[in-house]
Amino acid sequence: MLTSTFISIVSFLCLLGYVSGQSDSRDIQRAQKTCVVQPSRNGSDDVPATLEAFKECGTGGNVVFLNETYHMNSVMETVGLKDCQVDLYGTLLWSTNLTYWLNHSLHYDYQNQSSVWWFGGDNVQFRGHGYGTIDGNGQAWYDFVKGVSNYPNRPESFTIYETTNSVFSGLRFVQSQMWTMTVWKSVGILLQDIYVNSTSSDGYPARNTDGVDTIYSDKIHFDRWTVINGDDSISLKANSTNILITNCTFIRGLGISLGSIGQYADRYEFIENITARDINYYNTLHAGYIKTWTGQTVGYPPNGGGGGLGYAKNIHFSNLTLHNTTQPFSISQCTTFSGVAGNCSSSLFAISDIVIEDVRGTMLKDPIASWDCSASAPCRNITMLDVDLTLATTGGPASGWNCTAVVGTTGFNCTGTGCGTGSSTGSC
Ligand SMILES: *[C@@H]1O[C@H](CO)[C@@H](O)[C@H](O)[C@H]1NC(C)=O
Ligand SMILES: *[C@@H]1O[C@H](CO)[C@@H](O)[C@H](O)[C@H]1NC(C)=O
Ligand SMILES: *[C@@H]1O[C@H](CO)[C@@H](O)[C@H](O)[C@H]1NC(C)=O
Ligand SMILES: *[C@@H]1O[C@H](CO)[C@@H](O)[C@H](O)[C@H]1NC(C)=O
Ligand SMILES: *[C@@H]1O[C@H](CO)[C@@H](O)[C@H](O)[C@H]1NC(C)=O
Ligand SMILES: *[C@@H]1O[C@H](CO)[C@@H](O)[C@H](O)[C@H]1NC(C)=O
Ligand SMILES: *[C@@H]1O[C@H](CO)[C@@H](O)[C@H](O)[C@H]1NC(C)=O
Ligand SMILES: *[C@@H]1O[C@H](CO)[C@@H](O)[C@H](O)[C@H]1NC(C)=O
Ligand SMILES: *[C@@H]1O[C@H](CO)[C@@H](O)[C@H](O)[C@H]1NC(C)=O
Ligand SMILES: *[C@@H]1O[C@H](CO)[C@@H](O)[C@H](O)[C@H]1NC(C)=O
Ligand SMILES: *[C@@H]1O[C@H](CO)[C@@H](O)[C@H](O)[C@H]1NC(C)=O
Ligand SMILES: *[C@@H]1O[C@H](CO)[C@@H](O)[C@H](O)[C@H]1NC(C)=O
Repeated sequence: MLTSTFISIVSFLCLLGYVSGQSDSRDIQRAQKTCVVQPSRNGSDDVPATLEAFKECGTGGNVVFLNETYHMNSVMETVGLKDCQVDLYGTLLWSTNLTYWLNHSLHYDYQNQSSVWWFGGDNVQFRGHGYGTIDGNGQAWYDFVKGVSNYPNRPESFTIYETTNSVFSGLRFVQSQMWTMTVWKSVGILLQDIYVNSTSSDGYPARNTDGVDTIYSDKIHFDRWTVINGDDSISLKANSTNILITNCTFIRGLGISLGSIGQYADRYEFIENITARDINYYNTLHAGYIKTWTGQTVGYPPNGGGGGLGYAKNIHFSNLTLHNTTQPFSISQCTTFSGVAGNCSSSLFAISDIVIEDVRGTMLKDPIASWDCSASAPCRNITMLDVDLTLATTGGPASGWNCTAVVGTTGFNCTGTGCGTGSSTGSC
């Protein structure tokens, strides 16, 4: 079963190679028409000119942003593009008129999320050439929400919507307002050489600044990402399938997250065929973790919910190098409305077939893994091979595999029980 998963991921890689290789040459022939967006240079809104360019060149054309700063003062929807090439040589700087954004951010039907820019289409190439920058001016948001999670109408930077056979490359995303990106209802995308850095310059945390979230998406490849942030480095949420994460560096965030999921009562959602390899972590909370809501419904999304159904399976992490990771691996099925003590053994969301192999480096405090699963739907088949971690504090070998409701372990034996509280640091 694991071998066949691996083979399918390999053929998926080939598919992506095919997609990017073919569409490159096709685009060069088709990108006859070029629309250069002229910046106002006086701080007035550059969004109308941008929308005009996408209208003119969004089908079979090339939209070019010069090596200048564009002032993005209003929401944008550039979806339904076709055979379009976008070249960003400068910076798109989003305004700090929070009153405006709180009243106008574009909503979509998942966890009340909203965005300043919906972007999408078929056979789109969006290139930043290692320089093009999307600057969310996020410090204004970090200061405004003061650490409050999922502040209503706080928008994410960039939403890739209903996009197929497309490539995003060489882009920089700095100071995201909220989540940096969401890949939503999309299939067959390569996102390569992406730099994300959301760093607060004062005491307020850069919370909710996920590097990227995937929702209802299939065959997405994240290659050569660097993410420096204050939340999930990459987060795979509802109905994310065949996701490949390769050759990435994650700094200071929470690592790769599956979930949270199971937030919507009685809704069936899943995460399947997830591969992450050749990853470097520096000072992250986790390397990989899975988080589900409890089986009880308390309140409503985005901050309440629970009682969702479904599964996460075929998850493969390999060749991981950790530097000072707090708690490398964790499962928790305890998420519930803030301030309420959840019943951690109530979730029916089923987790199975996890393989973690070839892991080295340093971590802060035992245990290596805290598999705190729900007794109502025990986790099945967890494998950990060639894990060689030392404690950053003492230099001695790390150890410890705390398990609750785990059926079937390979390569390790559980050494204790989890705390059953959903503590994300693994100690109660
Ligand atoms: C996951 O991979 C397996 C094995 O290659 C494949 O049979 C299955 O269809 C994939 N699942 C999804 C949801 O694509
Ligand atoms: C700013 O520049 C734009 C386009 O160049 C022009 O239409 C607008 O009148 C200018 N606004 C101000 C306040 O100078
Ligand atoms: C953009 O301009 C800056 C200086 O203004 C320069 O350092 C940089 O190389 C230019 N980038 C591109 C892609 O031309
Ligand atoms: C901010 O946006 C609000 C609401 O859209 C608008 O009324 C106000 O004039 C804007 N403020 C500035 C300084 O542009
Ligand atoms: C991230 O951005 C901050 C400024 O916002 C900068 O000081 C820091 O060097 C950047 N980190 C990396 C690793 O690029
Ligand atoms: C990983 O990324 C580095 C830097 O971009 C590159 O030199 C290297 O070839 C990549 N390795 C793999 C296995 O793709
Ligand atoms: C997620 O997948 C399940 C199973 O195919 C489906 O019932 C559900 O509608 C999907 N969710 C969405 C919102 O696409
Ligand atoms: C492991 O990942 C690193 C990047 O973090 C890469 O340089 C190295 O080649 C990978 N090793 C193997 C055996 O693929
Ligand atoms: C290791 O992590 C701890 C806690 O996150 C932090 O205080 C410390 O500075 C880190 N050490 C290094 C060498 O980065
Ligand atoms: C565990 O994995 C083995 C082999 O990969 C498979 O035969 C078995 O059905 C799995 N068990 C569960 C409970 O998923
Ligand atoms: C989990 O493991 C660590 C070390 O292996 C241990 O100190 C801790 O008490 C264990 N139990 C809980 C409930 O965290
Ligand atoms: C787990 O425990 C069993 C029974 O004591 C032992 O045979 C096996 O070698 C242990 N496995 C590991 C990976 O330590």
